[in-house]
Amino acid sequence: SQSCDIYASGGTPCVAAHSTTRALYGAYNGSLYQVRRSSDNATRDIGVLAAGGVANAAAQDSFCAGTSCVITVIYDQSGRGNHLTQAPPGGFSGPAAGGYDNLANATAAPVTVGGSKAYGVFVSPGTGYRDNSTNGIARGDQPEGMYAILDGTHYNGGCCFDYGNAETNSRDNGNGTMEAIYFGNIKVWGYGAGNGPWIMADLENGLFSGVNQRYNAGDPSISHRFLHAVIKGEPNHWAIRGGNAQSGGLSTFYNGVRPNVAGYNPMKKEGAIILGIGGDNSIGAAGTFYEGVMTSGYPSDATENAVQASVVAAGYRTSGSSTGGTLTPGSTVSLRATTACCTTRYISHSGSSVVTSVVSSASAAADKANASWIVRNGLANSSCVSFESRNTSGSFLRHQNYRLYLHANDGSALFASDATFCPQAGQNGQGTSLASANYPSRYIRHYANEVYIASNGGANTFDAAASWADDVSWVVSTPWTP
Ligand code: AHR
Repeated sequence: SQSCDIYASGGTPCVAAHSTTRALYGAYNGSLYQVRRSSDNATRDIGVLAAGGVANAAAQDSFCAGTSCVITVIYDQSGRGNHLTQAPPGGFSGPAAGGYDNLANATAAPVTVGGSKAYGVFVSPGTGYRDNSTNGIARGDQPEGMYAILDGTHYNGGCCFDYGNAETNSRDNGNGTMEAIYFGNIKVWGYGAGNGPWIMADLENGLFSGVNQRYNAGDPSISHRFLHAVIKGEPNHWAIRGGNAQSGGLSTFYNGVRPNVAGYNPMKKEGAIILGIGGDNSIGAAGTFYEGVMTSGYPSDATENAVQASVVAAGYRTSGSSTGGTLTPGSTVSLRATTACCTTRYISHSGSSVVTSVVSSASAAADKANASWIVRNGLANSSCVSFESRNTSGSFLRHQNYRLYLHANDGSALFASDATFCPQAGQNGQGTSLASANYPSRYIRHYANEVYIASNGGANTFDAAASWADDVSWVVSTPWTP
């Protein structure tokens, strides 16, 4: 039996069940999520390979072939219609049209589950999902539980990578108006032992690691590649639990009364559901979500332990990069344009400027080296890649104000995101297209021999729809300077 069958047997049924990787009921045979492709904005629901089974990732791969896809809907498997969609603006606005948050790139978090390929939800800052009109989710001081399976190696110190109960108006409505799982290493509100990341409870105006407002020694740093995180709450009682979703059991990191801070007892839960953002639509956070549920009633530890055993049995494993191919970390490559004008041009740097320039076997050694790039594991996402200069070590291709530059890695989270690109099949059928990790609908594109991250048909000159597919398709070729 799957997670929600176990919660039901325990008398605390799922009232929301979200996963892009697998069914969370043994009998679930419906859609898991919806993707939208950029070539024609068509959408497609992605279901399971069999009832109770893993996502049909091949259906996504064929629908998105030659273009790119974002995840538009994460369906609620509980039957209550609590689907997650693009989060609207609230206390903070997102970067997408109308102040909405970004949607996740559909191929940025590949894994296997029980040996079958599946994709998680890769949240870079600015990405968020929400449902402000739910059915059956706890309100006020009602009891609830929740768990999520996350990538424990993908996090940051921005507010707030959350999954769970939040305000129905996307605003900060005061202490106690949220109850969500938080994962990351922000220390503004609370923290536990070590340097993080920590599982904490986002109860609004506070990430809590235990009864105290700030430090609680019982909440350990935890970073399993597949992390099982649990938060649950009932009148004047709540708990934090966690463990390795690939083996072993769950541990309890806090189990006791509500925080010793005014406003959290009784709770004032509102019953919206968020993923990847704070209750007020704070959009600073990064993380990866594979599956999660919310229950009606306070689940027993025994029920949660049985859910952990079933998650371990489901068999989450890492998979290689979504395209792999010639972009092998450690190798050196040159990146050749495929637009008819420009097939002798390669992405090159001249100091910190990044352009396309004509390079041939007759070119000077410096020009060849300027057009050679060492492929690295993506600085912000190891499923994607970064490009380090062949002749300026420690400097990487990164975007800034949508323009590409060669800059020294300053070690910041922003630099890592700006320098990470997720490879996909080339949009014109040749080579590879490279989506920005933090602006997933923007791709490395040449325009007038300069290089940008562009969106197809967007507001800037370099977003022009004409020549789009050719301008964003790059042949990964033998390096000019090996
Ligand atoms: O509680 C931490 C954060 O504070 C919430 O997620 C957000 O709504 C507020 O900014």
